[in-house]
Amino acid sequence: MTHNTQAQERWFVTGAAGFIGSNLCAFLIERGAKVVGYDNFFSGKHENVERLLNTYGEDFTFIEGDILDEASLHSAISGCERVAHLAAQVSVMRSIDLSEETHDINTTGFLRVIEAAAKQNASSLVYASSCAVYGENDALPLSEDERPCPMSPYAASKLANEAYASGMSVKAPELNVVGLRFFNIFGAWQDAANGYAAVIPKWIDLLIEGKRPVMFGDGSATRDFCHVENVCNAIWKAVLAGEAANGKVFNVASGVPTRLDRLYELIVEALVNAKLGSNYPEPEKQDWRVGEILHSYGSPKQAKEMMDFAVEVSLQEGLQRMLSTQYCQNTNN
Ligand SMILES: NC(=O)c1ccc[n+]([C@@H]2O[C@H](COP(=O)([O-])OP(=O)(O)OC[C@H]3O[C@@H](n4cnc5c(N)ncnc54)[C@H](O)[C@@H]3O)[C@@H](O)[C@H]2O)c1
Repeated sequence: MTHNTQAQERWFVTGAAGFIGSNLCAFLIERGAKVVGYDNFFSGKHENVERLLNTYGEDFTFIEGDILDEASLHSAISGCERVAHLAAQVSVMRSIDLSEETHDINTTGFLRVIEAAAKQNASSLVYASSCAVYGENDALPLSEDERPCPMSPYAASKLANEAYASGMSVKAPELNVVGLRFFNIFGAWQDAANGYAAVIPKWIDLLIEGKRPVMFGDGSATRDFCHVENVCNAIWKAVLAGEAANGKVFNVASGVPTRLDRLYELIVEALVNAKLGSNYPEPEKQDWRVGEILHSYGSPKQAKEMMDFAVEVSLQEGLQRMLSTQYCQNTNN
């Protein structure tokens, strides 16, 4: 593995107890960084933090704290050159019920993180936006040039992050800021109860137990499933790209639409290869949920051009990695 000048740097990762955050901490440490993880366990898991502490010893420090708590945030971020901001209220449904809570965590929280990063002299901040900012749009694959159209308070809060990132550049010109619009991310340690690509861990859990998964619609709906290692790599590349990516927002997408019925086949194939489960019942088809977008996939072109990011882990490979990292180990324990 090639190490570069970033190798010894200190990263501050918000949302470190969560799915993407805990994977990112491991990814960064394996590339030589020291990581300070920060999370208040709003939806994150203690076992994710324990795994990181047990595996990485003193390369990983964890601070329990809320991104809304300025004093705690400033003290935790101090001494870190790079910031990855992943902490958020991530449920679209919850954002509809509790819109102000989502605004506080996702928008005010973002502002606090960017202010703290600037004040503590971090040099770059990469933050999680979402494909949800596109709303319903038939111009597939979705490109960053499309006009956003948020259809939930969650999506609005992510678009607000993008607006603040741009607006804050006048106040914090020394801080490089890059936004990444994640598509449907999946991988080990993903909470099956959480939105997004949770269809993958949900189906895996059911199929291992020989139970029928639920498939909404006739199976023809498509999504852009992107393995979490690609996200970690995109965050890394966003920092490496320096000025070329500064102030911009990029899709983190595979660029490949996958039908849900094809996804089912690929999961079964991966389970067979990993020798997990033995009886894989056909999905139970239920009506497509009103208001859900039928087709969505993103263009990875601008991320390729501006920050040299390319998806390296395919859906098939990602499913295999997910099973061997999480499920096969569990079985062996
Ligand atoms: N998973 C996906 O497919 C996907 C897609 C688009 C965008 N995203 C974005 O990526 C980021 C990570 O998502 P995830 O899937 O890992 O979700 P997750 O729920 O596993 O992680 C979010 C983390 O943020 C923490 N958090 C919430 N509020 C906090 C607060 N006030 N202070 C400190 N920590 C707080 C939670 O405890 C949790 O650990 C989020 O910003 C999400 O909006 C994810």
